[in-house]
Amino acid sequence: MGSGLTPRIHDTAAAGFSAGSGAYARGRPSYPQEAIDFLADKIALGPGKKVLDLAAGTGKFTALLVPTGAEVVAVEPVKEMGDQLRSSVPGVDVLEGTAEAVPLPDASVDAVTVAQAFHWFDAPLALAEIARVLNAGGDLAMLWNRRDESVRWVAHMNELIRWHEFNQRSYETVDWAAAVAASRLYTPLKKSTFRYEQVLDRVGLEDRLRSVSYIAAKPEAEREQVVALGMTAVDGMSEPFVLPYNTLVFWCSKRS
Ligand SMILES: C[S@@+](CC[C@H](N)C(=O)[O-])C[C@H]1O[C@@H](n2cnc3c(N)ncnc32)[C@H](O)[C@@H]1O
Repeated sequence: MGSGLTPRIHDTAAAGFSAGSGAYARGRPSYPQEAIDFLADKIALGPGKKVLDLAAGTGKFTALLVPTGAEVVAVEPVKEMGDQLRSSVPGVDVLEGTAEAVPLPDASVDAVTVAQAFHWFDAPLALAEIARVLNAGGDLAMLWNRRDESVRWVAHMNELIRWHEFNQRSYETVDWAAAVAASRLYTPLKKSTFRYEQVLDRVGLEDRLRSVSYIAAKPEAEREQVVALGMTAVDGMSEPFVLPYNTLVFWCSKRS
């Protein structure tokens, strides 16, 4: 299907997301409803439309697409993540596949959403595959929840776990508008930002740390050491911990 390439994902994604799927489901944030409503309007999600949630993981974003009334299909390469999705969001068709080899026919969906995942893709290949499965004029949306480091304990926690050092494929350093423009397949990328707050107890914040792919990929003893170190950022603070995010929403349409 698609490019005909053997589906393959980054080693850290494969190891981290399979070992950490439980922590991911428990510890990762959802997305602001305001952003979903905004997107539903911008990319016309609703009854009679078919949307592909690509790299759907445990279904955190997929679950928010279902109430729009659109028909939702999910694609996810890591079996453990897809299994969590099947049990947490029943009624959605979950297919195994990658962004570089999407297991859907040409021109078969009206929209594609990618939440917290495009930075794992081979961008030129993925953009071509997404254009292949989109109907003429169909839409692509990419979202990221970015931890708000203007809050002191969040910046301290990121320093302690050396997030910037290890998160080398960080979405923050990529010019997504340029990547989309280089493909020549889409209209110029637009962007909007929303606020989101994740309210976590101590165990929830530990799971939030365990769900970070490069931490999840570590052997257990080492992983727990990093988690304990990260948790020292909230020493002296009382539960619940409010982890703030800026949710970045990008969207564009396939050129006809
Ligand atoms: C951070 S999770 C995001 C999951 C979900 N979209 C969410 O918002 O919670 C990243 C997901 O991308 C998937 N992934 C990594 N590389 C991929 C690729 N090349 N094609 C498709 N999915 C990929 C991982 O398996 C993982 O489930």
